[in-house]
Amino acid sequence: MSDAHDKRLSRREALAGMFTVSTAALVGCGGGDPSPDAAMGLDAGMDPDATREADAGRDAGPEWDAGPPPTGAFQHGVASGDPHADSVILWTCVSEQAGPVSVSWEVSASPEFGAIVTNGTFDTDASRDFTVKLEASGLEPATTYFYRFRLGDQVSPIGRTRTAPTGAVERLRFVVCACASYAHGYFHGYRRIAERADLDAVIHVGDYIYEYGSGEYGDVRDYDPPHECVSLEDYRRRYRLYRQDRDLQEAHRQHPFITVWDDHESADNSWSGGAENHQPATEGAWADRVQAAAQAYREWLPFRETAEGDRLRLFRTLRYGDLVDLVILDTRIWARDEQGAGATDPVLMDPTRTLLGTDQETWLFEQLRSSTAQWKVICQQVMMAQLPLFLNTDAWDGYPAQRQRLFDFLADNPTGARSDVVVVTGDIHSSWANDLTTAPADPLAYDPETGMGSLAVEFVTPGITSPGAGMALEDILRRRLPTEAPHIKYFNLWRRGYVVLDVDASRTQGAWFHLDDVTSVAGGAESFASAWETATGTNHLVESDSPAAPRADAPPLAPG
Ligand SMILES: [Fe+2]
Repeated sequence: MSDAHDKRLSRREALAGMFTVSTAALVGCGGGDPSPDAAMGLDAGMDPDATREADAGRDAGPEWDAGPPPTGAFQHGVASGDPHADSVILWTCVSEQAGPVSVSWEVSASPEFGAIVTNGTFDTDASRDFTVKLEASGLEPATTYFYRFRLGDQVSPIGRTRTAPTGAVERLRFVVCACASYAHGYFHGYRRIAERADLDAVIHVGDYIYEYGSGEYGDVRDYDPPHECVSLEDYRRRYRLYRQDRDLQEAHRQHPFITVWDDHESADNSWSGGAENHQPATEGAWADRVQAAAQAYREWLPFRETAEGDRLRLFRTLRYGDLVDLVILDTRIWARDEQGAGATDPVLMDPTRTLLGTDQETWLFEQLRSSTAQWKVICQQVMMAQLPLFLNTDAWDGYPAQRQRLFDFLADNPTGARSDVVVVTGDIHSSWANDLTTAPADPLAYDPETGMGSLAVEFVTPGITSPGAGMALEDILRRRLPTEAPHIKYFNLWRRGYVVLDVDASRTQGAWFHLDDVTSVAGGAESFASAWETATGTNHLVESDSPAAPRADAPPLAPG
């Protein structure tokens, strides 16, 4: 499939990297009847990449149906993020500016801005790439607000955001998304997300940008800069390119984002001390590169910044009343030890190896222990469930002692307080619904029918555009998983899309929505693929009859 075109395939860059030969052999292979294993929720069907070459409009711009591209001071749109009950982060960038400038901002409960709730000014300059990032405070909980910026007589697009609730909360809806390789297609998924009026927030678990040069990984759209990002200016240029994409702009304009990075915000398969796609001899010290990547991330994404020493700290908790705590992890840069060389590398069994670092692990356990929310949603990067057929050393499978410590913590649950943990994951460009259990294939330890032995559940989102693995692997998994990995309830390896996470007191549901095609401007229709839910107190996934209905009382979208 398309991955055969890619010059750089890592062991992590989707499962595709592990199956290049077998999937390449199936280029053009399609068809596939409805799954005989439908009861297990395994998808099959046409590979959209089979028609990719014919569709790809390399020089065409992204789909856009709301007027001409922006000009003037606010070409990179507006954004908001990290909602609290009384405040939210607001963001914009002053485009084409040469010297220091003061930008004014205002927030209103109505898109007409009849009454201003709060306002102010923000000074920006070249030292922060002319980005504007501020906390708007004094807001009411569970309220939709509209905001805009001004520079002289120029006014930004109107943004829309929403604060977190407090106290008793009936229902929450989030989108979980990840992995937007600009070079692999158009961000139709972001457009579909923007159109959903009833979301509380969009949770983006990383690979928001990709660092590659043009043609190195995907060839539908060219990059700026055309070379691989290494320096601060490179990463800034890459964010500018992304934020001129009208579909991504629209998703940011309509919803607050809650973001955390994965590897490609710095370099492929990064860890705390380096990356597979980092060559010190020609690209300089890793510490310099990761600081540059972190600075650009800090400038361009609307999250609440904290630092420890010179390290950007992204792990944090966002509270949504008594219903949900979002516990956000950095499994990538903070403290991760280097990936093992393969499934048989003895280093994998070293009990001291870490994915989180001692401080983040202690913090995670304290967040789970002290949470008063019913659902603890851990938002993180790499797949936590075991994939025993094809061990991915970049995922939690490559850090078994780290995973076991978390599972032991969840199992030690005397008051039931460590129940109702949901993990949401990105990174591998494919869709998965998993029970999380210590020994999935041991019938004495885990019963896939009743969920006995399951400690939590995991929903893995596919990429917005980044390519999955294809049909050959799917056939193997469909045959072998029911006996060897019965904790995996559903998977789809090649469709792009995202997950809608719908939460109420009785259950949490993850619903996968998949896109028909991301390689053509005309594509991007979405369809419901599958939905799975865990009932309160069960820590076990069962298939839902249908995706949860949208909210009837969704607030209006921001006017264009
Ligand atoms: Fe990715």
